[in-house]
Amino acid sequence: MQVEGAVVVVTGSAAGLGRATARRLKACGAQVVEVDLHFPQGEATGRERATADVTDADQVETALRKAAHTFGRVDAVVHCAGVAAGFRLIDERGPADPAAFQRVVDVNLVGTFNVARAAALVMSQNPAGEFGRGVVVLTASVAAFEGQRGQTAYAATKAGVVGMTLPIARDLADYGIRCVTIAPGAFETALTTDLTPWLQDKLVSYTTFPRRLGKPEEFAGLVHAVIENDMLNAEVIRLDAGTRLPSL
Ligand SMILES: NC(=O)c1ccc[n+]([C@@H]2O[C@H](COP(=O)([O-])OP(=O)(O)OC[C@H]3O[C@@H](n4cnc5c(N)ncnc54)[C@H](O)[C@@H]3O)[C@@H](O)[C@H]2O)c1
Repeated sequence: MQVEGAVVVVTGSAAGLGRATARRLKACGAQVVEVDLHFPQGEATGRERATADVTDADQVETALRKAAHTFGRVDAVVHCAGVAAGFRLIDERGPADPAAFQRVVDVNLVGTFNVARAAALVMSQNPAGEFGRGVVVLTASVAAFEGQRGQTAYAATKAGVVGMTLPIARDLADYGIRCVTIAPGAFETALTTDLTPWLQDKLVSYTTFPRRLGKPEEFAGLVHAVIENDMLNAEVIRLDAGTRLPSL
């Protein structure tokens, strides 16, 4: 599938990896519909922007149906909306709050399910073309494989995203829709720049090469490649400069 001329929905596009992805795809000729909880003040919504909470299946479905209705079809959905969470199972205040765990599950795991199902719904209505009907790109994290201390909730949700990649690809194969997950290491977004300098240095020290945080544009470049390479399916791709997270 060519990015140029494709209709692509990007969730989490108001910031970070989603924002860089939306910019890159637009610059390369895609028609991009952005979906986020809210957009920066002064930036209008409209045909190309929809506010939706990914934890709400109806809101997500409405946003994707609207995108398909407005632009005639949706060819790719790139799901970047997500939250980080760091809390230990127990600390000096007592055991972790179950509501905090549930919140991360709702956004990162249920949210991914909601986006994948709505993507499948709208793409399955595309005419079957040479390149199939579409592609769903999900975002996990290297924490799915090497969750650190304090990442029980986050790692569980990202491992869930990794775990759903193959069955989603299998469920959608008959419709000619692919599913690929990207598992980033540490990238320069609010998720990492809000951390203390000590923690940021730690994250960089876990890379193999290059020894730095990833740039959101590098994530966007991989999304572009995934959309265009029809042989990529049912795969989880680490994009992490060889990062291997220790316990911390
Ligand atoms: N930045 C990193 O180092 C890194 C590393 C590994 C994985 N990831 C993953 O990449 C994804 C994007 O992260 P980022 O660094 O760009 O984060 P970010 O905080 O910069 O951007 C996340 C975006 O998602 C939106 N969002 C959050 N909850 C939402 C909801 N319920 N409904 C709709 N939109 C919602 C936010 O408004 C924001 O615009 C996340 O899933 C994150 O876990 C990021």
